Amino acid sequence: MTTLLQNPLRVGLRQERIPEPQILVIFGASGDLTQRKLVPALYQMHLERRLPPELTIVGVARRDWSHDFFREHLRQGIEEFGEGLQSEEVWETYAQGIYYCAGDMDNPASYQRLKAFLGELDEQRGTRGNRTFYLSVAPRFFGEAAKQLGAAEMLKDARKTRLVIEKPFGRDLGSAQVLNRIVRSVCQENQIYRIDHYLGKETVQNLLVFRFANAIFEPLWNRQFVDHVQITVAESVGLEGRAGYYETSGALRDMVQNHLMQLFCLTAMEAPNSLDADAIRSEKVKVIEATQLAHLDNLDLCAVRGQYTAGWMKGKPVPGYRDEEGAAPNSTTPTYAALKLHVNNWRWQGVPFYLRTGKRMPKKVSEIAIQFREVPHLMFQSATKEVNQNILALRIQPNEGIAMRFEVKTPGSSLRTRTVDMDFRYDAACGQPNQDAYARLLVDCMVGDQTLFTRADEVEASWRVLTPILDIWDAPSTSDVVPFYEAGTWEPVEAELLLNRDGRKWRRL
Ligand code: BG6
Repeated sequence: MTTLLQNPLRVGLRQERIPEPQILVIFGASGDLTQRKLVPALYQMHLERRLPPELTIVGVARRDWSHDFFREHLRQGIEEFGEGLQSEEVWETYAQGIYYCAGDMDNPASYQRLKAFLGELDEQRGTRGNRTFYLSVAPRFFGEAAKQLGAAEMLKDARKTRLVIEKPFGRDLGSAQVLNRIVRSVCQENQIYRIDHYLGKETVQNLLVFRFANAIFEPLWNRQFVDHVQITVAESVGLEGRAGYYETSGALRDMVQNHLMQLFCLTAMEAPNSLDADAIRSEKVKVIEATQLAHLDNLDLCAVRGQYTAGWMKGKPVPGYRDEEGAAPNSTTPTYAALKLHVNNWRWQGVPFYLRTGKRMPKKVSEIAIQFREVPHLMFQSATKEVNQNILALRIQPNEGIAMRFEVKTPGSSLRTRTVDMDFRYDAACGQPNQDAYARLLVDCMVGDQTLFTRADEVEASWRVLTPILDIWDAPSTSDVVPFYEAGTWEPVEAELLLNRDGRKWRRL
C-alpha cells in the first residue's frame, strides 16, 4: 500500500512554500499583464499570507511615471480584475513595497540606474540581493533585456537571481534557438523560467495525478484502445485591443506552440520517474521529439488556419478581425488553427492527435477528449441507430471536471441504448479551484521550482514540430488565402474536413 509520505505525487503537489524575501522586477510594468494578472495575483497571495512581507515590486517601463502613479494604476487593477483591496490599511502598507523605475529596454544606463536602485531597496526592505526579473515586454525585446541584464551583471549570482520570460519564446525554431543562446550566455538554465500560464492551471496539473495516480486509466491510454485524441482551446473573446502583439503572432504562435502543446505533452507523455522538474520536462521533450505533423508532404491535409469575420456573440453583433482596432484591413493573421499530429512511438503509433484553438468561437471552453475505439463486434445494431464511441473528456475550463461517456440500456422491455455521461465536477467534490495560474507560477518561480516552466530543449522541440507550417503560412504567396469563419461559429469548413477526411468529427462542446 502506498502511504502519503511514500507517494511523491501527493507530497510534491501539496507542498506550500513561502519564498525568500526578494524584489520582483517587472519589465513592461505599464502593460496589461501586470495590471490585470500579476499584481492582483500577488496582492491576493499577500492577503493569504503566502508571500513574505518584505516582498518588493519594482515596475520598469518607458513611461515617465512616479511611484505613486504606478501604485494607483495597480490599485485600480486589483479593484477591477482581482478580488479587491480588503481594506485601505492593508493596501497602504502593501503599496509601500511597490516602486517604479522608468527605463529603456536598450539603454545600458537604465540598467545601471535600476541596479543601484535595487541595491538601495535591499538595504531598506531586507531583500538580501534576491531578485526575480520578469520580462513582460513585447517578445522582440526579450533578447535585448536579457543581454542588458547580463551586461549589468544583474544575473550573476545564480543562487539569488532568476529570469522569467513570457511567451511566445521565439517566433519559430531559428529565433527560439537564438533567444536560448542569448539567455544562456547571461545565466544558467536553472535561473530561466519560460512561463506558460496554462501549466499553472489546477486542472492542467491534475492531468498528471489523473493519469499516474489511478491504476484504471493508464492501461487504456494507448493505441490499443484509443481511436484518437481531440484537444480544444476555444475562446469567445476577440482581439481585445491587442492588435500590436497579435498581428505579429496569430493563433499558432499565441496559443498552439505553448498552451496546446503543453496540454498535448501532458496527455501523451510517458510516466516520469519522479516529480522532479527535470524528470517531468525530459518526458515532455521525449514525446514532442517523437511528434510530427501528420502529412509532412502535404501540410494542407494536417494544418488549417482561419480568421473570424463579423458575426454575432450572445445576441450582439461583433466586428470581423480585419475591422478590429489596429488590425490591418487586409490582415491574414490566423485567429484559428487546427492541426493533426502523429506520435511515432510504441504507445501512440497510428493514433491521431487533433488540436484546435480559435478566438470568437461560440463559447470559452478547453478540454482534452480521449476517444476510444469502437467495440470489436456490435450486437445491438437493431436496438439503436448508432452506438457512440466511449469518450473520456477532461475539462480544463470552465466547469473543471472529468466526464466519461458510455452506452446504457434505456429502461423498458425493448432493447434500446442511449449515450450517457458520468460526470465529475471539481467544484462539487473539492470546491472551486480558486488559485490563479499566475499566482501558482509566481510562487514556484520565487522559490526556485522549475517544474511548471518550459526548458530550452522543450521549447525548441515544440517549434520544430510547428515551424514547417509557419514557413508556409508566413510565405507571401500563400498568405492571402486564409479561410474565414463567422464570429460565433465553431470553425472554418476546411477544419471540419480535416477530421471528416478521416471519418471523424470535431466534438461540439
Ligand atoms: C494567452 C494568449 O496566453 O492566453 C491570449 O496570449 C489568450 O490570446 C489567453 O486569450 C487565454 O488564456 P485563458 O487562461 O483565458 O484560457
